[in-house]
Amino acid sequence: MSAKVLVVSGSARMESNVHGVARLAADAVRAAGAELLEHHLHQLQLPVMEPGSAAQAALPAVRELRGAAAWADGFILITPEYHGNMSGCLKNWFDYLYPELAGKFAGVIAVTGGGGGDMSITAVKNTFAWCHGFTLPYHAAARGPDFEDGRLINPVVRERVQRIAHDVVRYAPLLRQAFDAAKASGAGVESGVAGAR
Ligand SMILES: Cc1cc2nc3c(=O)[nH]c(=O)nc-3n(C[C@H](O)[C@H](O)[C@H](O)COP(=O)(O)O)c2cc1C
Repeated sequence: MSAKVLVVSGSARMESNVHGVARLAADAVRAAGAELLEHHLHQLQLPVMEPGSAAQAALPAVRELRGAAAWADGFILITPEYHGNMSGCLKNWFDYLYPELAGKFAGVIAVTGGGGGDMSITAVKNTFAWCHGFTLPYHAAARGPDFEDGRLINPVVRERVQRIAHDVVRYAPLLRQAFDAAKASGAGVESGVAGAR
């Protein structure tokens, strides 16, 4: 069973350490034999989400965002830490989604100026859970000094990012298969979270 993985680079900045981590994660996803899509949020140029807006739903960027999320079994979500939280553009990405993330699996990585990344990682994991998704029980955080010219050079953090990619490729299709089967069983208690509203 080949996995489909979407790597989301959650920085609005062009010259960005987050994008450096996204490149490393994408290489590891490919090495693990999965199909890959990458979304760099500084390129998607999404407007701030307006609930129920038909005009926004018709935008090419929004269609692409939702289509890729629906396609993916698993995600690698990389956020810069902003004021102890995920970036606004990554939160905005989440706000366009919900059913596309339910029953899916994600690995989470933070890039910080110097902090430990726990706050932004927790924020991303919580938001993914609120969309009925599941996350890896470990994560990775890279600080400013771990980079050289936008490339992640700290070997310990590099290994952790690659480990996350392999686990997302390994577990995401299994979870999706189980979730889809549960959903097909209806909305009774036996369907668990798949049948819950
Ligand atoms: C608005 C803002 C808030 C930030 N807040 C934090 C923070 O709370 N903790 C931290 O360690 N770094 C913080 N930083 C530093 C960024 O996390 C760091 O520069 C990171 O590399 C940004 O990702 P990028 O290189 O992909 O743009 C902040 C930066 C900005 C612009």
